[in-house]
Amino acid sequence: MVEAVQGAGVVVTGAGGGIGAALARRFAAEGARVVVNDLDADRVKAVADEIGAIAVPGDASAVVGEARDALGGAVDIYCANAGVGSGGSEAAGEDVWALAWDVNVMAHVRAAEALIPGWLERGGGRFVSTVSAAGLLTMIGAAPYSVTKHGAYAFAEWLSLTYRHRGIKVHAICPQGVRTDMLAATGSAGDLVLQPTAIEPDAVADALMKGIAEERFLILPHPEVAGYYQARATEPDRWLTTMNHIQQKWEAGE
Ligand SMILES: NC(=O)c1ccc[n+]([C@@H]2O[C@H](COP(=O)([O-])OP(=O)(O)OC[C@H]3O[C@@H](n4cnc5c(N)ncnc54)[C@H](O)[C@@H]3O)[C@@H](O)[C@H]2O)c1
Repeated sequence: MVEAVQGAGVVVTGAGGGIGAALARRFAAEGARVVVNDLDADRVKAVADEIGAIAVPGDASAVVGEARDALGGAVDIYCANAGVGSGGSEAAGEDVWALAWDVNVMAHVRAAEALIPGWLERGGGRFVSTVSAAGLLTMIGAAPYSVTKHGAYAFAEWLSLTYRHRGIKVHAICPQGVRTDMLAATGSAGDLVLQPTAIEPDAVADALMKGIAEERFLILPHPEVAGYYQARATEPDRWLTTMNHIQQKWEAGE
């Protein structure tokens, strides 16, 4: 059991399925009191019924107030997990870029705005951001996703370094492929780069619990991502050439 989780009031957004549902199940199994949120009201109610959680359906951007009331006045752990897969290039379209920005970044900012004052007053709180390895690296064929996940990572990092000495803990989960509806929707690019090493959503929950127990900011359910991230930082041109080879493979339909 993870001590910081037992009895905690936890919110998980995007918990109607996939990684969010797996995180919610694990938090409940670890003895937390859980609020689950999703745009899909039916699916999130089903998850809530299954694990004895409270469902707060709706947009992840506006869940904190209702969730706090449902948890008796305080959110201890907030998981900004809802996300959109948003593929496409520079020409994906304004609406696609706007939605990716809104869900993948601004929902985190809005939640933090609602949570941080209370956490500073209490001297503690925990913000968990489901980013992606795309937030450290990039995702072939998905510019809006890659750019906004870099934004989510940057925001999590900023929160951590700004409030670290005031009791606020932040975790950024950065997996590669995870077998969910989102991965299934990535099509041939996902088949090429994500499917071969894809893991189950439960493995992401395992990694988060370990990361919380060890108080680590960066949580890598695929440990090999650390090496790719290092290569990107230290040898950017070599890394870009390697990534471009993957791009060309994808274009050739290999
Ligand atoms: N599946 C992967 O390979 C993978 C890898 C790395 C990171 N991630 C990230 O994990 C998170 C969860 O994705 P998943 O793979 O479980 O996908 P998923 O599509 O199964 O789940 C995402 C959930 O978020 C919900 N959602 C979307 N917009 C919302 C909003 N505005 N408000 C509330 N709920 C909303 C959807 O209804 C859906 O149930 C996302 O942030 C995603 O980017 C996924």
